Amino acid sequence: MIHGLFTLKNLPSRPPRFINLRKTHNAAPGDVQLELTHGLLAESASVAPKFFYDPLGCRLFEAITELQEYYPTRTEAGIFQAWQTQIAAAIASSGIRNTCLIDLGAGNCAKAEALIPQLLPRQYVPVDISCDFLRASAGRVQARFPALDIVGVGMDFSSQMVLPDAVQGHDRVFFYPGSSLGNFSPVQSLAFLQQLTAPSQGAACGLLLGIDLVKDSATLVAAYDDVLGVTAAFNKNLLRHVNARLRSDFDTRQWQHVALFNAAHSRIEMHLQATHDLTVCWPGHMRRFSAGERIHTEHSYKYTLKAMTTLLQQAGFSHVEHWTDANSWFGVFWAVV
Ligand code: AVJ
Repeated sequence: MIHGLFTLKNLPSRPPRFINLRKTHNAAPGDVQLELTHGLLAESASVAPKFFYDPLGCRLFEAITELQEYYPTRTEAGIFQAWQTQIAAAIASSGIRNTCLIDLGAGNCAKAEALIPQLLPRQYVPVDISCDFLRASAGRVQARFPALDIVGVGMDFSSQMVLPDAVQGHDRVFFYPGSSLGNFSPVQSLAFLQQLTAPSQGAACGLLLGIDLVKDSATLVAAYDDVLGVTAAFNKNLLRHVNARLRSDFDTRQWQHVALFNAAHSRIEMHLQATHDLTVCWPGHMRRFSAGERIHTEHSYKYTLKAMTTLLQQAGFSHVEHWTDANSWFGVFWAVV
């Protein structure tokens, strides 16, 4: 059953294959500038959360996951640990074989690294928008599992999920942990999940999903407004990233981190709020912000176990089960098409 995953430890480690789709069909030159310009000129300004993740942003996010207040990462890891036998059994009994593990928003690949010895996939496909960060992470995974076929993919899958040809002929397990799905609205989430359930040449397909659950708003807000100010730095770093991409002149010191729980929409919202009346310029454009005006940077939707089960069923998954922690703070779902 163990197909050489651990037996070839002494092989010199080669870098894994890596495909950068960001430059080709994913984003034509100028697309990013157009997208940013569109969001910044809108009456209520916004920048998509994917712009958090420049190299510094990736590291700030890693720091967030270690914060006392940021319970999701640790709680999710605890669920995978406590239920590992049941989760592996659920996946095995779904008839999924020769697995290709597709890790959506893989980042440092740490979560998949813990899963790989359980799941023993034939192929591991980490996907992330932050190419260089992912390349380094994928290299580390390859060094740890020299015999595993790894294909790193640099891609923005937030608008469309197109996997390269190298990812074919395997049953697919999409791994979408960390409540990243929560960045999409429920309507967008449904559309995104429907892409995963679209038929793929008769291959079986499952989804292993981690999602944050609704809880008291004090706990939620603290997780997005920590005392050390790491989340504030993560939020403000987006402006530095935007400056680099757009050649804009945001002055990070003139913006304040705002995190709030919008109960009506069951979501954490993050904003950047102008501390003064100010003007931001970039080639061909400018935008005035008055004191107190906000740029919306992130939605992080929180679900009930029941609402997520319904969403997965609506998206076309026929079998859905879940595991949670003692406080029901976080949910791990296994869903099969
Ligand atoms: C990576 C989208 C799951 O929403 O909790 C952490 C990002 N933002 N702190 C989240 C985030 C602020 C995170 N996700």
